[in-house]
Amino acid sequence: MSGYRIACVPGDGIGVDVVAEARKVLDAAVAAHGSSLEWTDFDWSCERYARTGTMMPEDGIEQLSGFDAIFLGAVGFPGVPDHVSLWGLLIPVRRAFAQYVNLRPVRLLPGTSTVLAGRTAEELEMVIVRENSEGEYSTIGGRHDRGRPGEFAVQEAVFTRAGVERIIRYAFDLARTRTGRVCSATKSNGIIHTMPFWDEIFAEVAADYPDIASEQCHIDALAARMVERPDRLDVVVGSNLFGDILSDLAAAVTGGLGMAPSGNINPPGEYPSMFEAVHGSAPDIAGQGIANPVAQILAGAMMLEHLGETAAAAAVDAAVETVLAEGVVATPDLGGKATTTELGDAIAAAVRG
Ligand code: NAD
Ligand code: IPM
Ligand code: MN
Repeated sequence: MSGYRIACVPGDGIGVDVVAEARKVLDAAVAAHGSSLEWTDFDWSCERYARTGTMMPEDGIEQLSGFDAIFLGAVGFPGVPDHVSLWGLLIPVRRAFAQYVNLRPVRLLPGTSTVLAGRTAEELEMVIVRENSEGEYSTIGGRHDRGRPGEFAVQEAVFTRAGVERIIRYAFDLARTRTGRVCSATKSNGIIHTMPFWDEIFAEVAADYPDIASEQCHIDALAARMVERPDRLDVVVGSNLFGDILSDLAAAVTGGLGMAPSGNINPPGEYPSMFEAVHGSAPDIAGQGIANPVAQILAGAMMLEHLGETAAAAAVDAAVETVLAEGVVATPDLGGKATTTELGDAIAAAVRG
């Protein structure tokens, strides 16, 4: 019996609730396929920050480094400024472990509906390939002349040739396993230095993939297109910020944030990859026990797939589909009255068969 060592960081708000449900489902799936998950819990969170003054211990990254994967709930909660909590936990993990791909697949699951009238599940299948280690998320810059009338802030985005090229290549390789189409999110009409550079590298990489249909689209027009003509999109590659925004939009058009999983991948496998939902800690519904656990459960399926447990991953996906298709147990975002636990239990039961 092979076991995997998983670092579990439930974090804040609904992260804690949805992680608990996902663990039930994942444990049931691997058990049915002759394997096991050995969970180690870390209480790193805004609550820990309030107690100790830090989101994670000084050697936090070192503590995570020996695990096969990291399973994260959500980070950030009112009371701690977001830039403090996120730069104290989520972003350092992504960077320390070179998780430069943020893979965010979306699809319209059975029994759920889209806000886009008349669209079929086939037309709404997409994956956002988000650059996850550099770009607009940079610490370079600062605030100047605080309190003076001319006060201003400067932020420098950093795009390296290596960083841009590797994410774009990843998108093209992924397209070969899907519909063979890649769309690059750009803004080279307004962002004068970094986006023309991004486009140039995109064109160079595209030349190596003559079998893949590639195009670029300005981020503003692409946002509109995701709503008006989502059927023409499949793999969408974007910078850190563009990919972040597009992934919530893609989730919104395919049933909502409660359904969208995400993998922070270190493609060479030198370091652990991290799996989480696209959504955050949802303070507006935290503590009510009504969050939809599906996004976190599907993130768990992505983790199993990443670990090579393909059959267990497929069993999790199938169980989610079965329960959603039945439509009997549904959380309020899906139009039902079920609790997080009731939906988690139903999916775990479906996994057990
Ligand atoms: P959010 O994703 O937490 O919530 C946005 C909206 O979607 C809310 O109305 C919420 O109730 C709803 N929602 C989200 N997940 C849901 C689910 N599973 N079921 C039902 N409804 C759901 O975004 P936000 O409000 O901008 O952020 C809240 C906090 O989370 C902030 O501190 C933010 O920085 C943080 N955040 C963390 C992550 C992460 O850890 N990866 C991601 C996004 C936001
Ligand atoms: C996400 C989140 C994070 C991001 C925030 C909370 C820093 O929105 O994972 O999508 O922008 O990467
Ligand atoms: Mn986001």
